[in-house]
Amino acid sequence: MSVVKMNVLTVSAEMREELERRFSNRAGIVESADGFEWFELLRPVDGTDRYLVYTRWRSEEDFTRWTESQAFQRGHAQAAAEAGAQGHGHGQEQGQEQGHGHGQGHGHGHGQGGPAASGAELWSFEVVQSTGPQG
Ligand code: HEM
Repeated sequence: MSVVKMNVLTVSAEMREELERRFSNRAGIVESADGFEWFELLRPVDGTDRYLVYTRWRSEEDFTRWTESQAFQRGHAQAAAEAGAQGHGHGQEQGQEQGHGHGQGHGHGHGQGGPAASGAELWSFEVVQSTGPQG
């Protein structure tokens, strides 16, 4: 049974453009992860401040293996570098918050520095039913 893992990022109005810029420059490594099925970055259009990083995986194990992989670290290199530059740790020690610290940013000449998200939460679902367009 496929699973959906959504990283719910709280993003202030000022950092929306920066978050989307970083994703537009994303590493594109997740595509070759074993068991990876789908990725979408969903922008809120109802006035709320939460972006959804939607991923779908063949199994829970495939997702867990990716989050513990070099591919995950490399896929988060930008954000980690930005956060790291502010002297805040990142990685496993932050429980659910994998790979990104919370620092106040300053520019690196390409977009705003520091983490683009002020909060992150992981939502987990099992795909019970799914369908696509006919024909
Ligand atoms: C504190 C937690 C997290 C934050 C703040 C965060 C933020 C980001 C940012 C800003 C990027 C763009 C690339 C970069 O800047 O390095 C990125 C890449 C990505 N994130 Fe996260 N992320 C977090 C954890 C997760 C988790 C738990 C998932 C799984 C649902 C996830 C899924 C992805 C995917 C699929 C990419 C693209 C990687 C690639 O292109 O290979 N992230 N994330």
